[in-house]
Amino acid sequence: MLKEIQNRRSIRNYKSENVSKEKIIDILKSGIQAPSAKNNQPWRFVIVNEEIKNKISNKMVELYGPNKTAEVIKTVPYLILIYNKDDGYFNHLSIGACMENMILEAESIGLGTLWIGYIKKIEDYVKELANVDYELVSALAIGNKNENPVARPRLNLEEVLIIEN
Ligand SMILES: Cc1cc2nc3c(=O)[nH]c(=O)nc-3n(C[C@H](O)[C@H](O)[C@H](O)COP(=O)(O)O)c2cc1C
Repeated sequence: MLKEIQNRRSIRNYKSENVSKEKIIDILKSGIQAPSAKNNQPWRFVIVNEEIKNKISNKMVELYGPNKTAEVIKTVPYLILIYNKDDGYFNHLSIGACMENMILEAESIGLGTLWIGYIKKIEDYVKELANVDYELVSALAIGNKNENPVARPRLNLEEVLIIEN
């Protein structure tokens, strides 16, 4: 198994030190190499600035109370918003592939990530704030890890391989 797949964890605690923009660009470039249905490449990205990051985090707390995801958004150096450009064929699956490429690329250069689906709950607010009208699918937090979580459990292969003919 790839060591990036084996070692990756969702990181919810980040160092405050900044990450170079070049690394973020490399991660995005890995994202856009993902396969996509009909090669539609439906992903669109927004790199949010500190002010928008704080507003997103504050809105989450305002609506849903203090929570770890909002804390990550506030403290992580980079938050990427991931949008879907249209209602094309299997776009969400393609965007999932793009997300995973970015996550594994980040892991390979020593950075931690958190896939943030929770942002969907404030989609309208975020779309207006970032001034983008595409469907918001998820966000990706990227930064230097400040924790080393133990692996969360997975089902055994026998539990998910339901038929072997
Ligand atoms: C589509 C998707 C959405 C997720 N959204 C969130 C989120 O909003 N907040 C969060 O803390 N973790 C989120 N996660 C991370 C999962 O909780 C995590 O991947 C899972 O618990 C397994 O842990 P691991 O990533 O460390 O292996 C999300 C993961 C996926 C794939």
